[in-house]
Amino acid sequence: MSKIKNDLILKALRGETVERPPVWMMRQAGRYLPEYMVLREKYNFFERCRHPELACEITIQPVDIIGVDAAILFSDILVLPQAMGLEVELIESKGPFLPDPIKTMKDFDRIRVPDVNETLQYVFDAIKLTKKELNDRVPLIGFAGAPWTILCYMVQGKGSKTFDEAKAFCYRHPAMAHRLLQMITDTTIAYSKEQAKAGVDVIQIFDSWGGLLSPDDFEDISLAYTRQIINALKKDVLTIIFAKGAWHSLESMAETGTQGLGIDWCITPQMARQLAGDKITLQGNFDPAKLLSPIPVIKKEVKKMLTDFGGQHYIANLGHGILPNTPVDHARAFVETVKEYEISQKSKIKNSSSDFDFLILNFKLMLHKTGTKEIRGEWIEFIYHLQERICRSLEQVDGKALFSEDAWQRAEGKGGGGLTKVIQNGNVFEKGGVNTSVVYGHVTDKMRRHLEIDGAKWFAAGLSLVIHPVNPFVPTIHCNYRMFELYGEDDMLTDRWFGGGTDLTPCYLFEEDAKHFHQIYKNACDEFDPLFYPAFKKECDDYFVNRHRDNERRGIGGIFYDHQRPDKYHDLDFWMNFGKTCGDAFTSAYLPIVEKRKDLSYTEKNKHWQEIRRGRYVEFNLIHDRGTLFGLKTHGRTESILMSLPPTVRFEYDYKPASGSEEEKLLQVCLHPGDWVPPSPKGEL
Ligand code: CP3
Repeated sequence: MSKIKNDLILKALRGETVERPPVWMMRQAGRYLPEYMVLREKYNFFERCRHPELACEITIQPVDIIGVDAAILFSDILVLPQAMGLEVELIESKGPFLPDPIKTMKDFDRIRVPDVNETLQYVFDAIKLTKKELNDRVPLIGFAGAPWTILCYMVQGKGSKTFDEAKAFCYRHPAMAHRLLQMITDTTIAYSKEQAKAGVDVIQIFDSWGGLLSPDDFEDISLAYTRQIINALKKDVLTIIFAKGAWHSLESMAETGTQGLGIDWCITPQMARQLAGDKITLQGNFDPAKLLSPIPVIKKEVKKMLTDFGGQHYIANLGHGILPNTPVDHARAFVETVKEYEISQKSKIKNSSSDFDFLILNFKLMLHKTGTKEIRGEWIEFIYHLQERICRSLEQVDGKALFSEDAWQRAEGKGGGGLTKVIQNGNVFEKGGVNTSVVYGHVTDKMRRHLEIDGAKWFAAGLSLVIHPVNPFVPTIHCNYRMFELYGEDDMLTDRWFGGGTDLTPCYLFEEDAKHFHQIYKNACDEFDPLFYPAFKKECDDYFVNRHRDNERRGIGGIFYDHQRPDKYHDLDFWMNFGKTCGDAFTSAYLPIVEKRKDLSYTEKNKHWQEIRRGRYVEFNLIHDRGTLFGLKTHGRTESILMSLPPTVRFEYDYKPASGSEEEKLLQVCLHPGDWVPPSPKGEL
């Protein structure tokens, strides 16, 4: 068999890794295409279905015009009741019409399980011709109606919003209904097998009216028969079940052994994934009416859909058939947006560092049940790239030393790990560490007691850094941006918050540096809320305190925030974006100060004072810092946690700087933190 050039959809259905999600659209061959309308003028619907050349031409139109990753055979689910002996018409602008529907036992005399090779040969001929004309560009999808949906038309005789007569038939005459369903099923199995033999690569079972049934009836009247079809096709062809509205039964549908499940827009991707499990490929679920929005809105909404589904085990599609009044360029925008989508976090991380792969794999295994994977993925991607950007810019300023990389895993390979990057003995930086970690585990009693958290499992991902420069006039800096999640025994998320901050620890005070640093963070905060900077500055001043030394701060502060949870006013994205903005502000807050001070000459006395101040830094970190304590208590990687400690320190008994000296001036601002930037005018608040 020749190889299909674009086989993304087949790969996705087999559960293989794809470089981007495949895309097609239900009812993609149809009235929204002017090229289709030309043929519609000349030939009636069933003529179009029965002439292989016409069916083939219409089938390939959306591949050429819209650029979809699969063709779906132009035909109709109602060719099957026709083949079983019922008359089916298609009335312009009204839809299907069956003049003599099934109502009583007597009507069974008019129908049979036909030899599909006699009655539906034209479909198989159309498949063969289309396969030839496609020339292995993209796969060809065949299809059939689910027995319940076919019964709807066979009994009701026409389209309906409720198919009440079809339902009444099932409830009043269950034996007759099940006999009819079995006849449809047997015909569909033979029909689908022949489609596979003729060359289709996938078969989709359309259960357009599955959602009209209660969950119990859906199992009894619909899925019981679809299951037979899937079972019978197992060895022949890949299958997709699309049962519109029947989201309640995604789990049972996944258990049929089908490779794909189509879903509509009335269920979130996260919930569908939770119900269907991790293995199956999901397909959907863009509301076809949304294709009537302006193109920029379509693009935005499609991107959101892709992010929500994640790139793998997924086929982008609509949640039902495309509407005839859809502008062609809107349909194209839908397809193009999917094609432009990069499976970001996983592939990018893979490309830039294989060390990070195990992190993604590990936490995916434990936390797959929750719908929070994408949020974690986005945050992890951010911290990882921020780490790279920061390290690169610090190397540039240093001009000599480079960061060394140390990828680590928590003990016994469980619970995640991280990437520690360390710079030492540089021109500018004496010792610095920039660490990212993605870690998780069970909440222990020790954690409950010391960290006041509760739940069964925890997850944390963050970046933290501490830079100790050589020159005593260049300040030490620290920052940490993190997200934290708690899970119950059932692996369901129970709590989540963001925290972070950046603070500056100079040994000598340069007011303009302090002002610059605080202004950058005030600007970052003001983008989100003018109340943030004053609140988070205060939290910072209150946090980095050596209480055992008369409340001496370790430096001149910055911002610090913790336990920020989504609420009525601030959703998750808000806090994630706030963390990103503050993280991104690091280089513009710190590097100009480094550039200005790194070449100032200094004396032994200045270095001596720097080591005294570094001693205070160590005292705070080892005695008070929650991050250090958390890391050590959760058996984090000791070297990565203590990378924050300076290379050399000095503890002298009762050392006091001379009054009026530059050293004393610094000490005073540590004892009495002041304001470095003017507050926002009241009108802005
Ligand atoms: O997806 C594709 O591009 C392949 C072609 C296809 C058609 N019908 C062509 C068609 C497929 C997969 C179908 C399936 C189908 N047919 C379903 C299941 C999918 C769904 O939308 O729920 C159902 C319920 C039918 C029955 C049917 N056929 C209806 C209700 C109608 C009329 C309403 C409508 O959408 O036009 C049809 C006619 C039909 N089938 C047309 C096409 C292109 C329109 C014919 C025309 O007027 O040109």
